[in-house]
Parts: sequence; C-alpha cells; structure tokens
Amino acid sequence: LIAFFQPKLLAGRRVLVTAGPTFEALDPVRGLTNLSSGKMGFAIAHAAAEAGAQVTLVAGPVHLPTPRGVQRLNVRSAQQMFDAVLPLAPAHELFIATAAVADWRPAAVAEQKLKKDGSGRVPAFEMTENPDILAAVARLPEAQRPWCVGFAAESEKVLEHARAKRLRKGIPLIVANHGPSTFGQDHNALVLVHEGGETELPAADKLTLARQLVAEVARLAPRRA
Ligand code: CTP
Ligand code: CA
Repeated sequence: LIAFFQPKLLAGRRVLVTAGPTFEALDPVRGLTNLSSGKMGFAIAHAAAEAGAQVTLVAGPVHLPTPRGVQRLNVRSAQQMFDAVLPLAPAHELFIATAAVADWRPAAVAEQKLKKDGSGRVPAFEMTENPDILAAVARLPEAQRPWCVGFAAESEKVLEHARAKRLRKGIPLIVANHGPSTFGQDHNALVLVHEGGETELPAADKLTLARQLVAEVARLAPRRA
C-alpha cells in the first residue's frame, strides 16, 4: 500500500543494481566469500521499482526473494558478475553497485576436490585480482555510461576512505557505511558522499534507507537525453 503513495520519482528510468557477495571457487566444493547478505541491494532494487523504474538486479549467491517487478540475474563469481553487468550497463541510466565483490580469487581452481595428503602440510593458494565492475562501468564512454553510485563498506575512517574511493573510481556518488556492523543486519546508517556535499541518512531499516537513497539519486542524477 505504501508503494501506491510513493511518488514515482524514477518513472520510466532504467536502473541496474548489483547485490550480495560473490563466491570464488577453490575446488568443486570450496570457495571464498564474505558476509554480505544482499539485503541493502535488494531493498534498493525494491525501492527503485516502487519509484517506477525498470530494474535489473544482478545478484550474487543469496537466498532472498526477488522484489516484485524486478528482473533478476543470478551469478556466483566476480568475473561472472562483471560479464553480466558490462553488456547490460549501456542500456541503463543508473547503476547502483551494492555488491560486496571479492577483490581477489584463487589463481587456479582445482578440477577435483583437494585432498589431505596425510603429511600435515597445508595448501598455499595464490590469488589474483578480480576486475573492478564499478570502475569499468564508470569508464564507459559517456554516451554508454550510466550515472554510477558506489557503496563503501569500511571498518575504519569511513568518511575518509569513502571520499577517496569516490574520486578514485570517478563516480558522482558513493554511499558510506560501517561494514562489519551492518552486514546481515536489518538496520543500517548511511552517509551519501557526492560532489555537492554529504548527506547523512540516520539509522533506519534498510527499506526506509533505500527509499531515501532512491529519492536522493532521483534528485541528483540528470536524465539522459
Ligand atoms: N566494486 C566492484 N567490483 C569490484 C570491487 C568493488 O564493482 N571488483 C564496487 C562495489 O560494489 C562498491 C564499490 O566498488 O560499490 C566499492 O567497493 P569496495 O570494496 O568498498 O572498494 P574497493 O575499490 O574494492 O577497495 P577496498 O576493498 O580495498 O577498500
Ligand atoms: Ca573491495
């Protein structure tokens, strides 16, 4: 019912959202992942759809229901998320990257399950860097580039890191939050860091914050001609 009374701030606009963690395989039964629950990204997809947007949600491995009216694509690894997002990006006006993408993956994936060899020796894993999805979208030629929103979950110096990250990635808006304390929780508190200044969204449930964020994005992002 609330949705009925929400102003359609993103009517007709196409929004691409990434959400959740990624999973980086070590062998057929093991891998590396992180504590992202996907809840914030799914709430944003929900809020954007409610605001009248056509939403595509690229989700890492999470068990969350797809918000009504949202087109969802499931992926597992950072590379798969990259391969899904890059071709989709130019058809979207807005890109909101909430996914906690693994920065590194094992350099090689064992074809068979790794076994103990009885010697007590432990395996050593070489890692390689994953592509930066948000930075790649932000580097698309202007005519193909959606207006980009990044998320920065930091465990310390939240604002300092977020400000630097926004400039490094060349994006108009980054959303800062205190990572470890909010992953998996139903509540969060956000600071929106953009060119024009900083806007605090005090602690609230993730859907409330998502609606406020969507309203700010609708206000800040120019419509594509
Ligand atoms: N991101 C991405 N692809 C990656 C890494 C990050 O799209 N390979 C996006 C995230 O979805 C988020 C933003 O970039 O919107 C910031 O992610 P974060 O992990 O905070 O920043 P990094 O640049 O990876 O820096 P670091 O983890 O070292 O703080
Ligand atoms: Ca990272």
